[in-house]
Amino acid sequence: MTQATSVKRIVVGISGASGIRYGIRILEVLRTLGVETHLVVTKAAEQTRALETNVSSRALGAMATFKYSVTDISAPIASGSFRTLGMIVAPCSMRTLAEIASGVTSSLLSRAADVVLKERRKLVLVVREAPLSSIHLRNMLTVSDAGAVVIPPVVGFYSKPKTLDDVVDHHVARILDQFDIEMPGARRWGDRVASPDRGSDGHPRSSPSDVQAEERYQTAVWP
Ligand SMILES: Cc1cc2nc3c(=O)[nH]c(=O)nc-3n(C[C@H](O)[C@H](O)[C@H](O)COP(=O)(O)O)c2cc1C
Repeated sequence: MTQATSVKRIVVGISGASGIRYGIRILEVLRTLGVETHLVVTKAAEQTRALETNVSSRALGAMATFKYSVTDISAPIASGSFRTLGMIVAPCSMRTLAEIASGVTSSLLSRAADVVLKERRKLVLVVREAPLSSIHLRNMLTVSDAGAVVIPPVVGFYSKPKTLDDVVDHHVARILDQFDIEMPGARRWGDRVASPDRGSDGHPRSSPSDVQAEERYQTAVWP
């Protein structure tokens, strides 16, 4: 980790891909953990926020410790001398990915990501698009080769999520793992989650194959 101050600081970028609730949840969790967050939101993300959530722009900004305008290229996070643990872009649009991959940074968000890469800090990109073109895939390889972690919000069904919140939390835990930050309540592969005579859904297990499957599940959660 490259931050010298005792305060843990993470830059959070939110761009205009679908899935703004990933960025929102990351801000919520980091706040409860006392991590200082520096937020920058693109103009497109303000639109997806309005389309996908009931969270106002003001409320989103208030979730962060500091929030900057996406055009404010003199903000602290635009400089490598401002020390942070790194940056999470969640969600990361293909446009923002392309800017980071090319190094042609036209906003505070992509500049901050560029800074994180050049300072060899941790850059985590929650890229979201479907399907992916060769251009998207090449850009992901480019940023990965430059040191970024590409972690698309792909659902892991083995965790048996019951709600969208479960899906989001599972992924947010994996994202925070990249910074060695423990998400409260996160379950991990190997954690035991059910009593020996009941399934993880609380119902008694019936057949031998149920038992076998459940035993595998008990010792195999959240890879
Ligand atoms: C509802 C909605 C969903 C979108 N979902 C995606 C997406 O999943 N991935 C993506 O790359 N772009 C998506 N877009 C398009 C981006 O918002 C658009 O390319 C924008 O220019 C990205 O700009 P930004 O990177 O500055 O945020 C979506 C747009 C809207 C309105």
